[in-house]
Amino acid sequence: MARKVEMHICLGSSCFSRGNKEVVMYIRDYLKKNHLEDRFVFRGARCMGNCSKGPNLKIDESIFEGLSLSQIDAILEEVLAGTKQ
Ligand code: FES
Repeated sequence: MARKVEMHICLGSSCFSRGNKEVVMYIRDYLKKNHLEDRFVFRGARCMGNCSKGPNLKIDESIFEGLSLSQIDAILEEVLAGTKQ
């Protein structure tokens, strides 16, 4: 079985004002709709020190900054493709 992917969304105030809430809702919905909830550990995180470029999403050791909703499907598909065995 493939490992779980660790995914953290920054919940700091700057990322909040840049739309992290919409990102959280979009990702939760995406995981549910695609039956992927058991493939990811999805949690909130404290400020990642990259406030001017939020919203920031960390997947394993990679940080995706300035995230817009339109990028998320492609990012998650790419991550999943890289974790298949
Ligand atoms: S508030 Fe998100 S990186 Fe600082």
